[in-house]
Amino acid sequence: MTFSESIDFNDAPDTPFTPSSVIGATLSRIDGPLKTTGTAKYSADYNFPRLAYAVPVGATVAAGTIKSIDTATAEKMPGVLLVITHQNIADMLPAPKGGRSGTGEGRPVMSDDTVNYWGQYVAVAVAETFQQAQAAAAAIRIQYDPQKPNLSRLFFDDPNINMNSNSKRGDTASAFPAAPVQVDAVYRTPVEAHNPMEMHATVAVWDGKSFTLYDSSQNVVGFRNSLSQALSTPAENVRVISRFIGSGFGSKLSPWPNAVIAATAARKLNRPVKFTVPRSFMFTSTGHRAATEQRMRIGATPQGKLVSLEQNYRNDSSIGDNSRENCGEATPFLYSVPNLQVTSGIVKRNTGTPCPMRGPGAVPGLFAVESAMDELAVKLNMDPIQLRLLNDTLTDESNGKPFSSRHYKECLQVGAEKFGWANRTPAVGSMKKGDLILGWGVAGASWSAGRRGSEASVILADDGTAKVSSATQDIGTGTYTVMAQIVSDRTGIPVNRIDVVIGDSSLPPGPGSGGSTCTASIVPAVADCADAAVKAIVALATQTAGSPFFQQEAASITVSGGRVHAAGSPAASGTPFQDILKLAKTPSVTGAAQPVGLDPKSRDYSMHSFGAQFAEVSWDPGIARLRVTRVVSVIDGGRIINKKTASSQISGAVVMGVGMALMEEVVYDQRNGAPVNANYADYLVPTHADSPQIDVHFLDIPDPMIGQYGARGIGEIALAGVAPAIASAVYHATGVRVRSLPVRIEDLLTSKVGLA
Ligand code: MOS
Repeated sequence: MTFSESIDFNDAPDTPFTPSSVIGATLSRIDGPLKTTGTAKYSADYNFPRLAYAVPVGATVAAGTIKSIDTATAEKMPGVLLVITHQNIADMLPAPKGGRSGTGEGRPVMSDDTVNYWGQYVAVAVAETFQQAQAAAAAIRIQYDPQKPNLSRLFFDDPNINMNSNSKRGDTASAFPAAPVQVDAVYRTPVEAHNPMEMHATVAVWDGKSFTLYDSSQNVVGFRNSLSQALSTPAENVRVISRFIGSGFGSKLSPWPNAVIAATAARKLNRPVKFTVPRSFMFTSTGHRAATEQRMRIGATPQGKLVSLEQNYRNDSSIGDNSRENCGEATPFLYSVPNLQVTSGIVKRNTGTPCPMRGPGAVPGLFAVESAMDELAVKLNMDPIQLRLLNDTLTDESNGKPFSSRHYKECLQVGAEKFGWANRTPAVGSMKKGDLILGWGVAGASWSAGRRGSEASVILADDGTAKVSSATQDIGTGTYTVMAQIVSDRTGIPVNRIDVVIGDSSLPPGPGSGGSTCTASIVPAVADCADAAVKAIVALATQTAGSPFFQQEAASITVSGGRVHAAGSPAASGTPFQDILKLAKTPSVTGAAQPVGLDPKSRDYSMHSFGAQFAEVSWDPGIARLRVTRVVSVIDGGRIINKKTASSQISGAVVMGVGMALMEEVVYDQRNGAPVNANYADYLVPTHADSPQIDVHFLDIPDPMIGQYGARGIGEIALAGVAPAIASAVYHATGVRVRSLPVRIEDLLTSKVGLA
């Protein structure tokens, strides 16, 4: 096959607004200097007079009950202010109403004597200093009635699990057995820990009526609402602040018990309390990605046309929660196939509660789907790209709707060209570079697109500056910068004269940084508010005596380049907007707008981002060394607002994908449920030396259904497909098909490739 077919992006639908050069610019993040100079304040950086410190005690069994807790010694130790256990927490924390805990865990914090996982908070010591609290926590004596924990990784062995049908069309039961070419294989993905660089932390301040909680949050509005519930305190008396976040990857979408405990202690002691979650507790008590076991059955014609596709999977959840890892997120619409079924079930294990992790469901799901597609290509003796192109579709066959903007085919074609795929020789072990065997693999990516109605505020001031604010937050993705770019685009005010204020739930309610919806949600809100502020300036210009536009028609006046001018005349002919404000003796105008969610017309479309990942591995058979050397990532994520922050997001996801493919797994001690690698030394993530050369390409085609700029979120899409592309490259290099992540050197020792 050839990939010389040129792609015409000009067939992309027009957007009603023509963006200026600031849109799509390669712009450094405006908060970068604050971060690199250590000036940016993260949650744990807040300090207050009379600050007390909370240190947790985690259960040292994974199942059972607490027989006794002896806190007497700890309570008498120097500086100790309070010891919280299940025996006294009810005196401080009313049971939350509505049966919801208000945290990422289903069960209210320390509500009884049952232990469901190793590391579960069973006591907290609060003291004048961190060291005193640590010493007191170590002096608390706890006895357990332990039971045998269930940590089995074999999910299909569990009896009596309800299987739910998540998507179904045609009849796979008859189509699969009749298919001339079949793949039937089980894939496994392990528990992965989010491991954001910034640890979870809460600094809680109580003023006798209201809480101010400095908590590392991907969703300050959601945190306020959840913590209002957890603390039985009206939402207007809870303020959540999260100005800078050292990422979250989903672990900071919901508050965790640390926030509730810190707030409870602050209220009880009537003084500020800091609770920094130790790194080891971030393997048990702040969520993780559930492990999955997925059986894939794919049937095809000898020509490679899919006839049947089944994904039957189970994931593990904690004892107290039913958390489904939606592995079939992309399966029903990724390919054209007449017979399809996705079924899922949940098994219970004695681990902490799982929660969304970057590309929840889709990422482990696509490991199975795309690995199975690669296995099918091998069986068909067909190029894996050609197999995918052959089964591409512009209709979502799960619901019959057209895609708002699907360019999966172009992702595969552009990627093949950038990667040099035409030079691939398909035979296992056939590509060499010196003593190294090279393997090349490809996989598709998909993640949903969405948008929520959001509020913001844009102020234009008489000193020529602008301020934009919203109760959203920047988890490291570039939200600060993107918001400034939108104001700049609508007004012509340079980005360096625009102040962005976010990370505070008391601001106009904005979107969470989750599900790759933040950009798509905040961009139209800021644009509408900026337009409202411009309208207010124009009104002043036409109403203020002495203004060059006095008593002119507002409709004939516009603002661009930071100047008020006649529509159709160049901006340079106009008057700086701040001069109009000064003339009108008005210090500033504020633009606000009603929140607007997705256009109702979008309901007629299926909305997703797509991508294609190309990976090269090198395998040194002499010393059994595997490296990922090169990744090309092509992303169809709608219009890209900032090429630099967007490329960084994608590169970061590729590095995370290398971790998923080759390194990441929380390993539990089968005897007691302790995560044995609960630290940064033993839970491996890629270092610079492990990171491949990464090429990121955006198709940059606006999605006509997402909003006036056509920008979808891109936080999660690029992690999808990386692991299966690497696992397929590993097969191409070594002949070993690894179906259980991570790929380990031990898995590859059976490889005969390169050994005479
Ligand atoms: Mo994402 S898992 O919504 O941070």
